[in-house]
Amino acid sequence: MARPFIMAVDDQQTNRSIIEAMLRDFYEVQLFADGESALRFLSRHMTDLILLDYEMPGMTGSEVLLALKADTRVRDIPVIFLTAMTDSKIEAEMLENGAADYIHKPFRATVLQRRIKMQLDLCSNRRHMEQLIDERTEEMRRDYERSQKRQALTAYMLALITETRDDSSSDHVDHITELTRVLMKNIDEYPKAARAVTPEQADYIIQAAKLHDIGKIGISEKVLQKPGKLTVDEFELIKTHPVLGARLLDLHMGELKEDLFFKTTRDIVLYHHEKWNGSGYPEKLSGDTIPLSARVTAFADVYDAIRSVRPYKASYTREQAAKMIVNESGTHFDPGLVDIFMRHEKDFAALY
Ligand SMILES: [Fe+2]
Repeated sequence: MARPFIMAVDDQQTNRSIIEAMLRDFYEVQLFADGESALRFLSRHMTDLILLDYEMPGMTGSEVLLALKADTRVRDIPVIFLTAMTDSKIEAEMLENGAADYIHKPFRATVLQRRIKMQLDLCSNRRHMEQLIDERTEEMRRDYERSQKRQALTAYMLALITETRDDSSSDHVDHITELTRVLMKNIDEYPKAARAVTPEQADYIIQAAKLHDIGKIGISEKVLQKPGKLTVDEFELIKTHPVLGARLLDLHMGELKEDLFFKTTRDIVLYHHEKWNGSGYPEKLSGDTIPLSARVTAFADVYDAIRSVRPYKASYTREQAAKMIVNESGTHFDPGLVDIFMRHEKDFAALY
C-alpha cells in the first residue's frame, strides 16, 4: 500500500528539516517554504494531510487555511497547525476555521507522528463510513425500484383479471394507462391541479387508473357479460361496483389508509363514475370535490369506451369522439381536462 502523502509548510529551513527527519520513515513528505507555493502544488496534486506553520511572511497560516476551506476539492484535507504561540484565542480561532488540530513548537517526534496518525485514521474511517452509506443508499434505491415494479405488476394482473370478467379486452387496461399518462404528462397546463400534483402522485394516478373497476369482482358474470340490454335492476346492480370496490379495499387493506398509492386507488375506484355537474354516482359529487385522480380516470375510461369496439357497439371515429368529449365538457367531464385533451388530441388518437 502506498505511504500517506504529507505536505509541510514552514518558512524556517530548520523546522522543515526537523519535520522531514521525524516523518520520512513513515510518510512521503513534501516541504514548502510558503503558503503560496503549497497552494500552487495543491492545484495540480493531492495530499493526505497538511502541516501548516501559523506565522509566515506572505500568506499567513490562517489565510492558507481559509483558501483551502473555500475550495471544495481540497477542503476536506486535514490541516494541523504548528505554532510557537500559546494564545488560547488563536487556538480556538484555528479550530473554528476548520483546522483539524494544532501542535505547539517545539514538539517531540512521537507527538507529531501520533497526531498525524490520528487524523489519517479519522479520515480513513470517515471515507469508510461514506462508502458504507453510499452502498446502503444504492441498495435501498434498488429495493425501492424493485418494489415499485412489483406493485405495478400486481396492479396490472389485478386489472386484467377484473377486465376479463367484464366484456372488455386487455387493450382496455393498456389504453386506460396510456390515456391517463397523456393527461398527467400535460397536467401542468391545468394550473390549479398542477399546484396540487407531485410527480409521485401523477405516477400513482397512472398506475392506479387501471384498477378503477375492481369492484366488478363482486358483480355476477351473468350480469357483466349479459348480451343485450340490461334491466333497470341489473343496471342498478352494476352501479354498485364503485362502492363494492372501495369496501373491498377498506376491508383488506384498511391499515394502508394513510398510504398515497392506496388513497389514490381508493379515490379512483369509488369516484370514477362521478360527473363534473353532479349527476354521476355513487355520491353525486361535483366539480373539484371529485378527486382529480377520479376525474382523469373517468375521462380515460369514457374516451376508451367511445373509441373501442364492444360486443354491443362499433367504435366511433376520432372526429366523432372529439366532438362527443367537447359536448360533455362541464357536464360529464372536467372542462380543464377537456382543454388538455383538445390541445393534445393527436396523442390520444394515436393509441387507436
Ligand atoms: Fe366503472
